[in-house]
Amino acid sequence: MEILKLKHISKIYGDKVQFSALKNINLNIEKGEFIGIMGPSGSGKTTLLNVISTIDHPTSGEVLINGENPYILNHSKLALFRRRKLGFVFQDFNLIDTLTIGENIVLPLTLDGHKVSMMEKKLKDVAARLGIENILSKRTYEVSGGQAQRAAIARAIIHTPLLLLADEPTGNLDSKAAKDVMELFECINNDMGVTTLMVTHDAKSASYCHRVIFIKDGQLFNEIHRGESRQKFYQQIIDVLSLLGGEEHDIATVRF
Ligand SMILES: Nc1ncnc2c1ncn2[C@@H]1O[C@H](COP(=O)(O)OP(=O)(O)OP(=O)(O)O)[C@@H](O)[C@H]1O
Ligand SMILES: [Mg+2]
Repeated sequence: MEILKLKHISKIYGDKVQFSALKNINLNIEKGEFIGIMGPSGSGKTTLLNVISTIDHPTSGEVLINGENPYILNHSKLALFRRRKLGFVFQDFNLIDTLTIGENIVLPLTLDGHKVSMMEKKLKDVAARLGIENILSKRTYEVSGGQAQRAAIARAIIHTPLLLLADEPTGNLDSKAAKDVMELFECINNDMGVTTLMVTHDAKSASYCHRVIFIKDGQLFNEIHRGESRQKFYQQIIDVLSLLGGEEHDIATVRF
């Protein structure tokens, strides 16, 4: 079953001076897939994610999430759609400093007016799954970057979204924390079956995905599928990145 379908998506920024950030993107993502999106800086990755996450409407083309076009919803229905059907993880965690880690995680449920007993159970389950039970009463500035990102992931999946979207989730983490976070994404995808779409510059992180889609200058450039070996896939990703060109610092931050 298709969870996400993009049909002829284009995005043009600006009025007088126009810039074509996405050009005729067609993409189908099946339920349960774990997709990576890579490409040089400025190639349109975040724009693509924002179009999918209904934050930024496309100039033309259609987005279907589970067969539904979210862009025809009115403002309040769209907000609900986003909160119930999607999960987001960002590079800088986006946790709220005035709340505890636990309060941050249940925020999507709080906003939806769920029962406290139900929220507590879900919080317990998700915290156990992500190994962060011991930091739930801490503040955001009292935890490490890796812990903060795990909390952000917990918040993104507590309502079991149809689609989990992540923009550079390992971008601010050291290699050990990045590995832990990628193993979590892998578990969430395997065990909960959450369809995941992740933008990354990091070839190691991308090698956890089932399929990696490369974009260049707003267009699909290539896509590769992972076989048995993550190590081989990693090498293939590096090879496509070097074909893709761009400046050295734009592409893979190779981690050993
Ligand atoms: N709001 C905007 N107004 C005008 N141009 C924009 C806007 N947002 C992005 N762009 C342009 O669109 C292009 C794609 O930007 P985008 O942020 O999608 O790139 P990216 O692939 O995510 O890059 P990075 O790897 O640096 O995060 C860039 O050239 C950028 O300057
Ligand atoms: Mg970006």
